[in-house]
Amino acid sequence: MGHVIAVAGKGGVGKTTLCGLMIQYLCEKGKTPVLAVDADSNSNLNEVLGVEIGVTLGELREEIERADMDARYHIPAGDDRSR
Ligand SMILES: Nc1ncnc2c1ncn2[C@@H]1O[C@H](COP(=O)(O)OP(=O)(O)OP(=O)(O)O)[C@@H](O)[C@H]1O
Ligand SMILES: [Mg+2]
Repeated sequence: MGHVIAVAGKGGVGKTTLCGLMIQYLCEKGKTPVLAVDADSNSNLNEVLGVEIGVTLGELREEIERADMDARYHIPAGDDRSR
């Protein structure tokens, strides 16, 4: 069964550090897959995890928005092909 863990709070209290440790723990225990989303506008979870960022969710979202404006890629409302 999947779980959602949301971490929020005051600046600089250790949220990112805690998330990095939790992700490491879950991966080491084989509790995978883990989807980690750093929604901080000044995100740095990747640095804590030691991974390079390829494409961000924000960039993907903008790309999808741009594609939707282009008639060639327009996805009709109610289209469920993405499921
Ligand atoms: N338990 C702890 N004890 C001492 N220092 C800590 C602890 N947890 C985190 N730190 C240090 O505190 C600083 C801030 O930690 P972190 O970046 O995880 O906080 P944050 O809540 O994510 O910050 P921000 O709100 O800026 O995103 C870092 O330098 C980190 O190494
Ligand atoms: Mg942080």
